[in-house]
Amino acid sequence: MKKRGKSTESVHAGKIECGRVAPVSSPIFQTSTYYYPKEGSAGYVYTRLGNPTQEVAEDKIAALEGAQEGLVFSSGMAAITTTIVSLLDKGDHLIATEDLYGNTYTFLRNELKRTGIELSLIKSENAKHIERYFRKNTRGIFLETPTNPLLKVIDIKHLAGATHKKNIKIMVDNTFATPINQRPLELGADVVIHSGSKYLNGHSDVIAGLVAGKKGDMEIIEEMRTTLGGSLDPHAAFLLQRGMMTLAVRMQRHNENGSKVAEFLEGHKKVNRVNYPGLKSHPSHELAEEMMDGFGGMLSFEVKERRKDANKFLKSLKLLLAAPSLGGVETLISIPAETSHSYLSRKERLGQGIKDNLIRVSVGIEDFVDIKKDLNQALAKV
Ligand SMILES: Cc1ncc(COP(=O)(O)O)c(C=O)c1O
Repeated sequence: MKKRGKSTESVHAGKIECGRVAPVSSPIFQTSTYYYPKEGSAGYVYTRLGNPTQEVAEDKIAALEGAQEGLVFSSGMAAITTTIVSLLDKGDHLIATEDLYGNTYTFLRNELKRTGIELSLIKSENAKHIERYFRKNTRGIFLETPTNPLLKVIDIKHLAGATHKKNIKIMVDNTFATPINQRPLELGADVVIHSGSKYLNGHSDVIAGLVAGKKGDMEIIEEMRTTLGGSLDPHAAFLLQRGMMTLAVRMQRHNENGSKVAEFLEGHKKVNRVNYPGLKSHPSHELAEEMMDGFGGMLSFEVKERRKDANKFLKSLKLLLAAPSLGGVETLISIPAETSHSYLSRKERLGQGIKDNLIRVSVGIEDFVDIKKDLNQALAKV
C-alpha cells in the first residue's frame, strides 16, 4: 500500500473501533480497570497496562515516525528513563552527548549509577568520532538533535554507520524537530523518544511522553512501563492525540516563523549571535538540510553582553511570554542559565557554550509581524 502523507497520518492514524456507535472523535476510556467478559478475552485488563485512548496516540506516533510500534508515557522523562533502563542492563555502557534537556542530564549523571549502567558523557561535536568512545560493553547511544539550547546538529546517519552490526541501540530524543521535520528511524536510529508535552500536544496543556521503534524493543519497554508505572492517564492521552492531529500544519507555521525570526534577529544590532539550523551561518547548516525537512521553531540568541541585558529584554516583553517549556502555539522565551540549565555550574555552562546572556525562543504560530514587533521593542529597551 502506498505510504500516506504526514498530515493524513496525523489525522487518521489510530482509530478506535466501537462497533455500532461510530464517533468521529476518539472516545476517552476514562476507566482504571475492565471487567472480565463472560466469554473470550477483552484484551484490556487495567489502564496502567493499556487503554484504547492511549493507543490512538501510540498509533499516530508509530505512523508519523515510520515505526512498527509506539508507546505513550506519563511524561517525557518517564519515556526517557524507562527506555534507557529497559534497553540497557547492569554492566552495560551508555554513551550520551552532554547537550541534553536538564532532567535527562541529571538522571544520567546522578541516578544512572544506581542501576550499574556505565556512562560516558561526550561533547556533541565529538559524536563525529563516536568509535573512540566505544567499549566492549557499549550497548547504547543517547542523544538529542537539534540540541537544547544551542541547536547543534548531530549526524544520526554517521552514528548508525559506526554502530552497524554492533549490538548498540541508538536512542534519539526528537522533541525539538518532531517527526514532521526529522525522522531518526529513517536515518538509522533504533528508538525515537519525545516529550509529548511540547510540539506533539502543541497547546501547553498536557504532560506526556512517547517512544517509537521496532516491535522487539517496544515490547521490552512496554513491560518496563507497566512495572515502573509511567503510563499516561486516558484524559491526557485524549488531549495528546487531539493535539497530534494538527501537528503537520502547526509545524509548517513554526518552521516559517522560526526562519523569519532567526533572520530578523541575525540582522539586529543588539544581537550578537543567533543559533538556528536554518541559517546559512549555522555551523551544521548543510547537515541540517540533509537530515531535516524543516528547521522548526526553536532558536537561541545572545543579546548584548550580560545577564542583566537578557533579564531586561525578558521583562520588557508585552505579548510574548517569559516562560520555560516549548512547542506550544504561543511564543515562549526563557534564559537557559536561569531555567533549563540552572542545574549546571556557571563554569559547566560556559564550557558548553551557554552564556549568561543567551536567550531561548520557542517561536509560536502567532502572526510574524506581531512577534517581530514585540521582539523589536524589547530589544530597544536593552
Ligand atoms: C528535549 C526535551 N526532552 C525531554 C523533556 C522532558 O519532557 P517532560 O517535561 O514531558 O517530562 C523536555 C522537557 O522540557 C525536553 O525539552
